[in-house]
Amino acid sequence: MEVRARAPGKIILAGEHAVVHGSAAVAASIGLYTSVLLHLPSPEDNDDALTLHLMDVDLKFSWPIGRIKEILPHSVNNSASSPTTCCEETIKLILAVLEDSKKLESKIGIASGVVAFLWLYTSILGNKAAKVTVSSDLPLGSGLGSSAAFCVSLSGALLALSGSVEVDFDREGWVSFGEKEQQLANKWAFEGEKIIHGKPSGIDNTVSTFGNLIKFKSGVLTCIKSNMTLKMLITNTKVGRNTKALVAGVSERKKRHPDAMTSVFTAVDFISNEFASIIQSSSFSDDDDVIKKEQNIKELMEMNQGLLKCMGVSHASIETVVQTTVKYGLTSKLTGAGGGGCVITLLPALLSSAVIGKVIEELEQCGFQCLIAEIGGNGLEFR
Ligand code: PMV
Repeated sequence: MEVRARAPGKIILAGEHAVVHGSAAVAASIGLYTSVLLHLPSPEDNDDALTLHLMDVDLKFSWPIGRIKEILPHSVNNSASSPTTCCEETIKLILAVLEDSKKLESKIGIASGVVAFLWLYTSILGNKAAKVTVSSDLPLGSGLGSSAAFCVSLSGALLALSGSVEVDFDREGWVSFGEKEQQLANKWAFEGEKIIHGKPSGIDNTVSTFGNLIKFKSGVLTCIKSNMTLKMLITNTKVGRNTKALVAGVSERKKRHPDAMTSVFTAVDFISNEFASIIQSSSFSDDDDVIKKEQNIKELMEMNQGLLKCMGVSHASIETVVQTTVKYGLTSKLTGAGGGGCVITLLPALLSSAVIGKVIEELEQCGFQCLIAEIGGNGLEFR
């Protein structure tokens, strides 16, 4: 018996970090996916191991099913409790394994991802042997929501095979989960995200589960029906960073300067709300109307980037992208946690492909990686 589930990555158009402190944020799914293949052996196979194969980093883990209780004692015995505090020891254990294996850039991210895997697996499917294979189009830890896409696709696959949600396996191709099923997968994925990121806002797993464009504030999701085709260039600076540490850094800054930081978060809240209302505002009368709205979005992105700098999460590599694109009259902002990672640049509808080509060439000469991804596609799907 097997199922494959996939979930998309995301970009945050406005409001990252401030969203952790209660401000609104706007995010969109992108057409890059993480996919989880979950295979449950039949009883005749006599298989008593749980194996996890992370294809992109070429790592394989295998645990005798009876031993998982020892590795994750607290969470297995009490899956109702929040996993955030109980997994530190296990993360250290997995880190020790990675230490022995090979040089990997984001060891902590991978170790906490493996612990999130074990926690979600045992909480949803219990003590069953299985082979789980994970592959992804998303660069790890770069702000495109790779961990959320992992937690969402894993939760989807586990729920589909646990029988706790109804899925129609007879349909051809990728099939979206129903709304109730999406909500359940999103809830589990959020628990996984807490293990990986400490105190996430939930925006990443929510947009990965439901897809499309969303506004997110204090855990409440509003779907945005966009009348505007937004084209964004995504530049991966390839500078590694740790979301958990960056989120904690912003909270520390807020403790030191509560009034100033509250004003910053309030300003971001206005920016996100205005961003959402521009992209969902009714039809566009003509090209001038589109240009005016794009101009407003550019200004909002510029202000948001300035405020992210105030929060201390920009980085020299991000500023290089901002300065490079501004030479072509384009506006960029970091997306996700910052500190490196990815930057988005609005590509106006009337911008020629020749200019886009030149910008990309210049950014690639700096050692960055560029891609133009489809924005606002489907969320969690299975086949
Ligand atoms: O997953 P990342 O690195 O793209 O960043 C997540 C966005 C934050 O706002 C920084 C954190 C959060 O939980 O909302």
